[in-house]
Amino acid sequence: MNTPHPYAVGSFPHTRLRRPRRDDWSRRLVAENTLTANDLIWPVFVIEGEGKREAVASMPGVDRLSIDLLVEAAREARDLGIPVIALFPCIDPALKTPDGRESGNPDNLVCRAVRAIKAAVPDIGVLCDVALDPFNSDGHDGIVKDGQILNDETVEALCRQSLVQAQAGCDVIAPSDMMDGRIRAIRETLDAEGLQRVQICSYAAKYASAYYGPFRDALGTHGALKGDKKTYQMNPANTDEAIREVAMDIQEGADTVMVKPGLPYLDIIHRVKETFGLPTFAYHVSGEYAMLKAAVQNGWLDNDKTVLETLMSFKRAGADAVLTYCAVEAARLLKARA
Ligand code: PBG
Repeated sequence: MNTPHPYAVGSFPHTRLRRPRRDDWSRRLVAENTLTANDLIWPVFVIEGEGKREAVASMPGVDRLSIDLLVEAAREARDLGIPVIALFPCIDPALKTPDGRESGNPDNLVCRAVRAIKAAVPDIGVLCDVALDPFNSDGHDGIVKDGQILNDETVEALCRQSLVQAQAGCDVIAPSDMMDGRIRAIRETLDAEGLQRVQICSYAAKYASAYYGPFRDALGTHGALKGDKKTYQMNPANTDEAIREVAMDIQEGADTVMVKPGLPYLDIIHRVKETFGLPTFAYHVSGEYAMLKAAVQNGWLDNDKTVLETLMSFKRAGADAVLTYCAVEAARLLKARA
């Protein structure tokens, strides 16, 4: 992201900007950004059972996997050079309560999945989302009382959730709940238990977005959700507020920050990276994935080219990595082209 110096621009016909574009070797030589498997974080939906694979209707090509198949998938991702896998559990509705207490159970689905992956494929990083929505009967990321999302009570539950995930072997704790003060509280909880090695990736700038629809279908949280998430997720109209969110999370101990969704918020990614210079990730969310695949299924877009162009756009905006449901197909494409 270098700002071009004014006198670096010449005039026609002395200068022809098409000249370095003429040949493939030259286009590669002058490329300003690169996309590799190292830039990818792969999100996966986890279900109970064995040998189980369920397609997600609104996300063609995405399956929910039981833990045994998840371990195989993690091995393939590792072999493709994908550094980290992100886990999202589909919790049995019978286990959902208003306080989301299953989130703090050290033997819950996500903790068992972490242990299984770390035992079989120890060299892939494991990232766990922290929020109550998969476990909460209201479908909210926090504890709801009289129609309000309680901040401080939720933070306590998130600390417990983070602790059981970290103790199960999770490498990156990624709070996506947008409660105030949770990064500091989680950092202190982990450190008090000797878990200094565990990173925190804060979903620092997370917007109240319509693009999360297919994700909520995938986790079965859609029907449960009462109301919307506008009292904790950000207003899509705001930019300065995203900078304040990121600044606070850095101060509280975030190692890396996430901007979410991705494509509609490239300006936020750019500004966050320019302002703080911290490792900055983009979440190419479920609705963005669904749009792309729907157009591909209609024959309106070329899948492979669109996937790679989309992921490159995040790099160009300043993202260091992209959390994307396209991670495995993109890594395969990049390998085939290498
Ligand atoms: C919930 C969470 C959501 C996503 C990731 N974590 C949904 C939400 O906030 O309602 C969305 C991801 C996607 O759409 O792919 N804490």
